[in-house]
This record gives sequence, structure tokens and C-alpha cells, in this order.
Amino acid sequence: MSGMHVGIIMDGNGRWAKARGKPRWRGHVAGVDSVRDVVRSAPNLAVTTLTLYAFSSDNWKRPPTEVGRLFWLLREYCRSERAELLENGVRVSAIGRRDRIPRSALGTLEELEDATRHGTALHLRLAIDYSSRWMISQAAAQLARNVQRGALDPDEICPARMEQFINQGAPDLDLLIRTAGEQRLSDFMLWEAAYAELYYTKLLWPEFRGRDLASALAEFGRRKRSFGGLLKIEPQVKVG
Ligand code: FPP
Repeated sequence: MSGMHVGIIMDGNGRWAKARGKPRWRGHVAGVDSVRDVVRSAPNLAVTTLTLYAFSSDNWKRPPTEVGRLFWLLREYCRSERAELLENGVRVSAIGRRDRIPRSALGTLEELEDATRHGTALHLRLAIDYSSRWMISQAAAQLARNVQRGALDPDEICPARMEQFINQGAPDLDLLIRTAGEQRLSDFMLWEAAYAELYYTKLLWPEFRGRDLASALAEFGRRKRSFGGLLKIEPQVKVG
């Protein structure tokens, strides 16, 4: 699949709920409508990989009731969206740790991954119990194991080898969107975002829709990306 890889840090659910006098979890529930709309819109906007930050490894610090609701929502999402995702050719996969995800949510998630594995219109990656620094350290550990059993020379360790374990087959990130006005990466795809364009919007995640993804992509189209090189080779000026 060659298209754009967009990552979204979905922020502002709590603020959205608070502004309406509702409990925080209602913001997460409203956030699922945004997820649905963005996933529907992405393929029409030439987005072929979409990575959503659904639960960071630091989110375990939240009250257990909120954590519980988030995993309940994830399970509901996997169940209720299954038919549409399949019909639209969306392949779903999770990135992050799996050993701490509550069993019922994990079972439903893995069932959805299996059912949608042949989808080609969009690769939807849900970052769950995700920490980019953890992913990078896992890659280092894997390479260290390969060195230990004599299968790899330490001098052969390079970004391309690290990438095999970190990117998990996905391309590097082209565009990173964060909602709710915050301008931080919060341990999200630190490696893959090396040359990503960053786009911040004040919209809270439950307000974000496919049209806002389209606006972000229009802005992306106006950016000039040189990947550290030169945009245009200037004619050489002869000295002397
Ligand atoms: C950040 O808002 C959002 C989250 C921690 C969770 C995001 C989850 C969803 C959008 C719903 C579930 C997702 C899927 C894919 C089913 P916040 O609570 O930090 O907001 P605040 O900064 O305003 O408090």
C-alpha cells in the first residue's frame, strides 16, 4: 500500500465532557463517533495507514474506573464496527503491549484483527498500552538477543534493522495530528515521526471529523518536505 500514513493523538475528551457538565467518560464515548467518521473518510483522502493513540502506557495512572471504561469502549468499538470495517476493506491491528490489556477486550480485539486481516483500503492501527520508548527498547532487546546467539554482528545494527521491529511493517509517519491545542508528542511514534509534519488543532477530539482530517491534509500539501536534503538543486555557482 503506498499512500499517506497519518497518526493522531486524540486529546481533549475530558475537556469536551467537562464543558458540557458531563463525566469524563462521556467524552471518550463521544470520541468514538470521531474515530468512526475519520476512519470512514481516510481512504478517500489517500490515507492508507492511520494510527490512533487510543491508550498510552501512561494512561494506567488514571483512576481504575476510567481505565475500565476505556477498555469497555474498545471492546464495544471492535464489536459494533466489525461489519462496517470488513465491508470497507479496513484492516485493523493493534500496536503496543498486549500482556496487560484486560482479557475480554484483548479477545475481541484479536478477533477483529483476524477477521479484517485481508483489508486493503486502509490499515487502521490502534495504539493500545502503547509507549514509543518501550517499542524502541524492545527492538534493542531483540537485536541484542540476535547478537547473543551469534546471528548478528553488533556493527550491523543500523536504523533499518531497528525499524523492522519498531515500525512493524508500517511506513514512517507523514503527518502527525494532535487535537485540543496541546503541542507534545507524549511518547507517540518517536522513531516513525522523524520526518513527520506536525499539525495541531484546538478542536477537541469529540469535535474532530473527516472534514478536519481533510483540512489537515490540505495544510500538509502546502508544506515543503526535504527530508534533510535540498528541495531544489540550485545551479552550481563557479568560484574564481
Ligand atoms: C485523551 O483525552 C483521550 C484518551 C486518553 C482516550 C482516547 C479514546 C477514545 C477516543 C475512545 C476509544 C477509542 C477507540 C479507538 C475505540 P483526555 O481524556 O486526556 O482529555 P483531556 O486532556 O481533556 O482530559
